[in-house]
Amino acid sequence: MDNSKKICIDYNNMMNEFVGERGIAKKELTRLEPALKAAHEAIAAKRASGGMAFRDLPHVQGSVVDEILDYIAKMDTEIEYFVLLGIGGSALGPLALHGSLSHLYYNDLPRRLRGPKFYVIDNIDPERLVCLLQTIDIKKAIFNVVSKSGQTSETMSQFMIIKELLECALGKEKAKERIIATADEKNGVLIDIAKTEGYSIFTIPNGVIGRLSLLSPVGLLPAAVCGIDIKELLAGAAFMDTLCTKNDMFENPAALYAALHYAALQKGSSICVMMPYSDRLSRIADWYVQLWAESLGKKHDLSGNIVNVGQTPIKALGTTDQHAQVQLFAHGPFDKIVVFLGVSRFNEDIEIPKAFPDITNISFLGGHTHSKLIHTEQAATEYALLKEGKMNMTLTLPKTDPHTIGQLLYMLEAAVSYMGELMNVNAFDQPGVEEGKNVVYAMLGREGYEEKRKDLESMARKKDEYIL
Ligand code: PA5
Repeated sequence: MDNSKKICIDYNNMMNEFVGERGIAKKELTRLEPALKAAHEAIAAKRASGGMAFRDLPHVQGSVVDEILDYIAKMDTEIEYFVLLGIGGSALGPLALHGSLSHLYYNDLPRRLRGPKFYVIDNIDPERLVCLLQTIDIKKAIFNVVSKSGQTSETMSQFMIIKELLECALGKEKAKERIIATADEKNGVLIDIAKTEGYSIFTIPNGVIGRLSLLSPVGLLPAAVCGIDIKELLAGAAFMDTLCTKNDMFENPAALYAALHYAALQKGSSICVMMPYSDRLSRIADWYVQLWAESLGKKHDLSGNIVNVGQTPIKALGTTDQHAQVQLFAHGPFDKIVVFLGVSRFNEDIEIPKAFPDITNISFLGGHTHSKLIHTEQAATEYALLKEGKMNMTLTLPKTDPHTIGQLLYMLEAAVSYMGELMNVNAFDQPGVEEGKNVVYAMLGREGYEEKRKDLESMARKKDEYIL
């Protein structure tokens, strides 16, 4: 592949040669080589035995892509709205793809320039769904219910409301044409309901968990509905896979990314900031926060010891957060690394007019473009951090298109599995999330959760003394 299409990792500012004594020494990185080789072999073995299904998604979705494109080609021309009901990985992945690859004001474009308006309803703040229903004409909407487990309270409650409303508005027969279930092919009740009710179904391959599902129909279907080239997205991911199968951490972007984060964590950087300098990449940072937090924040290590580890991901947006969080990043504690996410060539640009020649405070801006200004501001923030001895690195996309986004997302997904191996934790479970789900089931009286309910009732009551 043409190297000019490849994303680039610049980690100069992570190294002590540049950032000073708190940075990583070259020998500290090379010392990690045996651990990375072991991680690489463990990952390869898991993948070979089918235990890492997300890594194969770019290569096995050919027929799914055809089904998706066929579904879209046959979609009722009356459809004005595509509403995704899902939460966590089932929402953040689709939002990352839509945010990075659709027009920034997609829903406001004239109809001839876009597909159906796209909405993602994840939270169950009652106003969220009610306000959507006040905004759209439900008779012209398709609802895509996305749940790997098929039983998440937020998503299933939304589904139950929408099903009833659709049946009232359109009648049972027509209503079923307006619901698509994206669910695990074997587990959970959503797939059974979808089969019984006769909904369209797209399946999430077995073993692909929520936060690693965006290259399955979870992300591909809504992306294609919005006109994103999903074949090119998968091609970008497949290309990155060829790099991430290299057993040399200095040639494997995912292994290198994990090694740098692990070395920084060892040096006390318990926080990692993902800071895109691009509005398009903003939703990718949201998705990344979940990926890094849920995969690596663990109580137990792989031997069952209590370790309580993790690296807290924070999202920032350049330049907006230069005026909010960067003061803390530059002058606050040495507990973070900042990953800048940059774009070499923006899809659009705009020139600043040469106005106010006599007002020197602003006249210097005239004649430059906004891309020049944002690149300069990114370089300025890198400098501000470097000057204060704060580790930072930059991932640069040559431009934002389906191929480079496929590369980036796949690289970060693969990196989390290397990081899991280095930290000796299971990056693919989420017992803390499951616990929260179980407590809700118990509190709302779900059958089979009586023990959990008793456990909750036995907890100490809150004291009025501590409530003002
Ligand atoms: O990444 C994960 O596994 C979670 O964040 C899930 O995506 C989230 O809890 C929603 O679960 P489900 O897709 O089963 O409804």
